[in-house]
Amino acid sequence: MSDPIVVMTDVTKRYRTGGVLGRARGSVLAVDGVALHIERGEALGLVGESGSGKSTLARMVNGLVAPTSGTVLVDGHDVSRLRGRGLRTLRRNVAMVFQDPLGSLNPRQTVRQTLENVFRAHGETASTGRLIGLLESVGLGEDYLHRYPHEASGGQLQRVAVARALALEPDLIIADEPTSALDVSVRAQILNLLADLQRDRGISFLHVSHDLAVIQLYSDRVAVMNRGAIVETGRSDEIFRSPRHPYTQALVAATPEAELADDDPPMRGDGAACDDRHHDSPNDHDAVVRPEAGTARDRKRTRGY
Ligand SMILES: Nc1ncnc2c1ncn2[C@@H]1O[C@H](COP(=O)(O)OP(=O)(O)OP(=O)(O)O)[C@@H](O)[C@H]1O
Ligand SMILES: [Mg+2]
Repeated sequence: MSDPIVVMTDVTKRYRTGGVLGRARGSVLAVDGVALHIERGEALGLVGESGSGKSTLARMVNGLVAPTSGTVLVDGHDVSRLRGRGLRTLRRNVAMVFQDPLGSLNPRQTVRQTLENVFRAHGETASTGRLIGLLESVGLGEDYLHRYPHEASGGQLQRVAVARALALEPDLIIADEPTSALDVSVRAQILNLLADLQRDRGISFLHVSHDLAVIQLYSDRVAVMNRGAIVETGRSDEIFRSPRHPYTQALVAATPEAELADDDPPMRGDGAACDDRHHDSPNDHDAVVRPEAGTARDRKRTRGY
């Protein structure tokens, strides 16, 4: 039975442009009449070429971008009408992981301060044990608490960013190109970590990527975006086996066969984030393996807004 955490109806975003230094005013239609939903516990992949509107659409889910028209419901609440406590609850329930881990972390704050600030922003404090537990859940040891961003690798920093996203036990994580700034050798580690979290904790995911192979492997369902519109949605295995829309067909055709999973891809055998926990070795986990299908989809937790 359908139990969506996100429902978007006829959502449009038009950015105003120009008007400074004598440049002519104009506008860009970044998102054009999108209807989309995310089921609870589901990993939805959003794929499309650069500039197709993926980030704009993703940011409308947690209120970072306001729609020009249409409605975005999260847990049944219209995001654009949330204020005060309601907005804070939304920010708890919907966490983001960004593309560039170094840019998304404050260079002057240790990992401990970064994590503590998340709790403080919501009027909470976290014990050292809780902070260590957060780091462990992303495969990092407690020594990382005292590190500054420049003292960690890109893969380790993205783990810290995931720990920060997990801190307030969100129902939904939006991961916008979470691995495209990382060395190819650590991409699969981060993707497997996110897949494990989805499976083990029943967290819903909106996974944004221009990389079709990644989206196919790590999403239950896929939405294909082109020029602001969703041109096709479907189960990830089906959409790549028999794409219907010409744009999806072109995307599939442009993806090397070897990168797309076959019908019976290997499954992960354990729930560990990665064996290579404290260093991002270039040789470990560089093969992209498909996570198990979600097993914790029955979690239904709705917080008060
Ligand atoms: N703040 C903004 N002001 C004006 N135009 C914007 C703004 N943000 C995005 N756009 C424009 O909206 C369109 C969609 O941008 P968006 O960043 O959502 O695409 P994307 O699919 O995430 O691209 P990428 O894969 O490169 O990240 C683009 O034409 C972009 O130039
Ligand atoms: Mg983007």
